[in-house]
Amino acid sequence: MQILGIDVGGTGIKTAIVDTTTGLLLSERNRIATPRPATPEAIGKTLKAVVDQHHWSGPIGIGFPAAIQHGIARTAANIDNSFIGMPVAKFFSEQTGCPVYVANDADVAGLAEMRFGAGKDHAGVVLIVTIGTGLGTALFIDGHLFPNTELGHLYLENGIEAERYASESVRVVNNLKWKEWGPRFNRYLTTLESLLWPDLIVLGGGVSKDLGKFSPMITTKAPVVAASFLNQAGIVGAALFAEEQLKNGGDIQSMDISI
Ligand code: BGC
Repeated sequence: MQILGIDVGGTGIKTAIVDTTTGLLLSERNRIATPRPATPEAIGKTLKAVVDQHHWSGPIGIGFPAAIQHGIARTAANIDNSFIGMPVAKFFSEQTGCPVYVANDADVAGLAEMRFGAGKDHAGVVLIVTIGTGLGTALFIDGHLFPNTELGHLYLENGIEAERYASESVRVVNNLKWKEWGPRFNRYLTTLESLLWPDLIVLGGGVSKDLGKFSPMITTKAPVVAASFLNQAGIVGAALFAEEQLKNGGDIQSMDISI
């Protein structure tokens, strides 16, 4: 099936048409800056422009940077607060004129990695961490997702919220060298490990392609690998989620990733 996959991030909105049977992109990957302030109306307008650009009229899957509980946004860390309590899929369907399905961005990136990527055939506990404007997490046990883990907001033992200490935007804004940011990110991963004991950790988001630059600073017991889809996992996973919703309905937690 062909679905327009959209990854709405705090900084950029990335889009491509995805073949859900293979996970491959069927179009160029486009990126537009996330409007500021990132209000529902402003993002809705941008999405409409993206849909027009792709000449798209079919189903759309969106990975969104918020906890999405049964279609309702519950948090808004890097987007406008007016999203909280909003039925986002319904709103974006109205704005774009297409059927839209929305889930948390890290959760959908995790779906792509579990089905086609670094977590494929991986039983046990797999933790996906997406590193971008914020820190997103997705947690799988034997291929089943525990949805909406918001572990980027965990407070570390230094009293700082993880995503304000070790995200990609913190690295860029503070001009941190890899040897300065690497230990920060390691502090975050080792904290997560001490609480969850994953068997495998998969890193997504913009810096996943740079894993070699900071992997020497990672001391977790669990192996840490880059997402096979790198920064495209969110786009692919959003499309997979939409396909599943179209076929079976239900919520993201009822999705089964065959392992
Ligand atoms: C949000 C999460 C999101 C993550 C990555 C966090 O600030 O609370 O929902 O998954 O950023 O975008």
